[in-house]
Amino acid sequence: MSLLDIVNLNISFATRAGVVQASDEVSFKIRKGEALCLIGESGCGKSIVALGIMRLLPGNARISGKIFFNGRDLLSLHKKAMRKMRGRDIAMIFEQPAGCLNPVLSVGNQIAEAVKIHENCSGKISRQRAVDLMALVGIPCPCKRYSQYPYEFSGGMAQRVMIAMALASHPSLLIADEPTTSLDVTIQAQIIELLKNLVSQFNTSLLLITHDLGVAAQMCDSVVVMYAGGIIEKGRMSDVFKNPGHPYTQALLKAASGKEPASVKGSVPELTRLPDGCRFHPRCELSQDICRKIMPQMKKGVKCHIQKKT
Ligand SMILES: Nc1ncnc2c1ncn2[C@@H]1O[C@H](COP(=O)(O)OP(=O)(O)O)[C@@H](O)[C@H]1O
Ligand code: SF4
Ligand SMILES: [Mg+2]
Repeated sequence: MSLLDIVNLNISFATRAGVVQASDEVSFKIRKGEALCLIGESGCGKSIVALGIMRLLPGNARISGKIFFNGRDLLSLHKKAMRKMRGRDIAMIFEQPAGCLNPVLSVGNQIAEAVKIHENCSGKISRQRAVDLMALVGIPCPCKRYSQYPYEFSGGMAQRVMIAMALASHPSLLIADEPTTSLDVTIQAQIIELLKNLVSQFNTSLLLITHDLGVAAQMCDSVVVMYAGGIIEKGRMSDVFKNPGHPYTQALLKAASGKEPASVKGSVPELTRLPDGCRFHPRCELSQDICRKIMPQMKKGVKCHIQKKT
């Protein structure tokens, strides 16, 4: 059984400009211990899918479909049960770690609080566990740094704190939404290395959200490529990397390899004004008549009329 099984997830927002379909029939699975990457350009719906799983969507969102976690549909859970599940079984880290920390509480106390919520232990034990967690995520001199405040931590160190808090409850699923995007390149590599080691050490499943294919390839077993709210390709990371089926995935790979401009030519369509047929057709060099009229179906992990997986 999959740990996470998302089936036909639809998330939309009613806005003045029209309905924004940020997640359109999104379906994918993550097995126990598997690392899956959700990739796509900015604005294609990656964070919204993650927030849907956590049930932390903004109030104006409408959601339908199924999100099975260990066989239970998260969307039908009572709010209280969901709150328990969040943090304990599913934890999430974000792009801007500093914004997620309380500026007036010491970093150590915040980690200890996360431990206490899940373990119902004494102050002394939670403090020791927090220090251990700080050491585990590579924060030097954890005893000393325990009583320091978030402003005394660099971006990379603050992200380590967020990872420590996320791991406090030994979650079976960790969602990391662009965890290294706001960091310097060398620090990015260190955080990726840390995440990679931790998920394999604890056999945690990982949903990594990134627009960086290099990061995804280093860490993930499988990949889901999103474009304008929908999935256009999914499969094993090694297969997709070697033999991308969809023209958009091919363009993303070329852009990442440095052989082409750093980004895919053209821009993502407005989600309120999606083109008919294949959503990628205005940017696709292979586009034909049928592409402009009929939305392709997903076949063998690729959603394209012309390009097929060999
Ligand atoms: N509260 C909201 N109201 C209306 N539209 C929203 C809201 N939140 C996100 N969106 C829209 O949903 C789309 C997907 O956003 P997001 O998931 O954040 O993209 P990504 O993480 O892939 O960059 C975007 O077009 C964004 O503008
Ligand atoms: S369906 Fe047509 S427009 Fe869309 S990606 Fe395939 S070839 Fe390009
Ligand atoms: Mg995002």
